[in-house]
Amino acid sequence: MTTELAHVEAQIVEIPDYPQPGVIFRDVMPVLSDGEALRTVAKALLAPFAGQFDVVAGIEARGFLLAGAAATVANVGLVPIRKAGKLPRPAASVPYQLEYGTEEVEIQRDIAPGTRVLVMDDVLATGGTIAAAIELVRKIDALPTGIAVLMELDGLGGREALGDGLPLHTLFHG
Ligand code: PRP
Ligand code: HPA
Repeated sequence: MTTELAHVEAQIVEIPDYPQPGVIFRDVMPVLSDGEALRTVAKALLAPFAGQFDVVAGIEARGFLLAGAAATVANVGLVPIRKAGKLPRPAASVPYQLEYGTEEVEIQRDIAPGTRVLVMDDVLATGGTIAAAIELVRKIDALPTGIAVLMELDGLGGREALGDGLPLHTLFHG
């Protein structure tokens, strides 16, 4: 790991018992509020995928922030993957299980078929969210080409849940 990335990793804060007892929440917001750290992670998240995507899809909510920064660096567009009920035009939906609850994500159906999509989020825990995001992208006939995540929480089965069908790039492990 580069010294820049090691410096970024040290900015991730562990919050015990949030959002519920027994969960250790990794708060990545300090990384996002440091301009240099944000640019470093945006570039590092994109690095293995050069030339392999047409848009970056960010998962609500913290994934939006990373994907927005990365899309700007890569000079491509940003596609939001939103929690259910937030998108104004026709959307595809996929339900999924979270470490702490149930959710549903949606994507608008106005992305051209065959668009190559790099899916991005802050944390990979059980993998339910990203698996649902990949399913959504496929549901609208776009093409997921990779997954980029700031932090992978080892031991929660996320990597296994996603399988080895798509390249998964994670910067940090927790
Ligand atoms: C968190 C995180 C990931 C997801 C990871 O989001 O930002 O999207 O959980 O968990 P998983 O791998 O077990 O699916 P959360 O649903 O808490 O939403 P938020 O970003 O809107 O707070
Ligand atoms: N941080 C952010 N999102 C999460 C976490 C976490 O520790 N666990 C599951 N989703």
